[in-house]
Amino acid sequence: MKITVVGAGAVGATCADNIARKELCQELVLLDIKEGIAEGKAQDMMQTAALLGFDTRITGSTNDYTKTANSDVVVITSGLPRKPGMTREELIGVNAGIVKGVAENILKYSPNAIFIIISNPMDTMTYLTLQATGLPKHRVIGMGGALDSSRFRYQLSQHLGCSPADLNAVVVGGHGDTTMIPLIRMATWNSVPVTKFLSAEQQQQIINDTMVGGATLTKLIGTSAWYAPGAACASMVESIVRDEKKLISCCVYLEGEYGQKDICLGVPVIIGKNGWEKIIDFDLNEEEKAAFAKSAAAVRSMNDVLKTL
Ligand code: LAC
Repeated sequence: MKITVVGAGAVGATCADNIARKELCQELVLLDIKEGIAEGKAQDMMQTAALLGFDTRITGSTNDYTKTANSDVVVITSGLPRKPGMTREELIGVNAGIVKGVAENILKYSPNAIFIIISNPMDTMTYLTLQATGLPKHRVIGMGGALDSSRFRYQLSQHLGCSPADLNAVVVGGHGDTTMIPLIRMATWNSVPVTKFLSAEQQQQIINDTMVGGATLTKLIGTSAWYAPGAACASMVESIVRDEKKLISCCVYLEGEYGQKDICLGVPVIIGKNGWEKIIDFDLNEEEKAAFAKSAAAVRSMNDVLKTL
């Protein structure tokens, strides 16, 4: 098994670190356009192997795509991260060109790879990758819901005073501060609906805090977050390489599911060795359906910007 992570910034490097610690592959390539950074971070990670006891071989490369040849899974994190006060959507002009170039180069050397997209605005970058590569839809997956759902579980755990691991909670829709939809009605604490334990005000607070989860961190740190994005991506890679068939909210191409088509948006999917294998219908109520349609409209107008670039 061979995995490539493109972009050796904080998100890419954290993702690679998680992949190596979990020994999800024998060979892991970190690629970056900035001279030396991928090689340096790869060496730094390899110097933890003796301490952590993992066997994954990590190498770094400055923009040499031949090194990525025959990867089974490729994670694309390339592009600019958010600065405080910036929306993910504001990055489209710069990141669209970067992501398109990366996806095309990767495809030349790894025609059978499954692509995971992290670059922002993630829903539009996933759609762009699908278009630019012409890959079968099951092999292009955007990482947004996996991260947002983990942030949702964190926010719930803070109010419930419980372990995030005991919670089941999913965020669908777009990966934007105003487009994501934390499905609190369906969230459970060891199978009991969380709504049983939370006031209406608390529920609204949890939803709000989840939606601005990324922006809150960007403001505190000064740049986009990386621990949870990296770990969320690694959990998707794990479900692919171990064929776990985990149910994860991911951004995938819709052809009528959830009432939408010709768009990539976050929905619950089964992730296994073939990429995203099946969309699960969560049977949204009228209010949730309306929120999903509104989210799709916002993402669609962002996708339209691609035509003007
Ligand atoms: C975030 C970025 C990765 O939400 O979109 O932190």
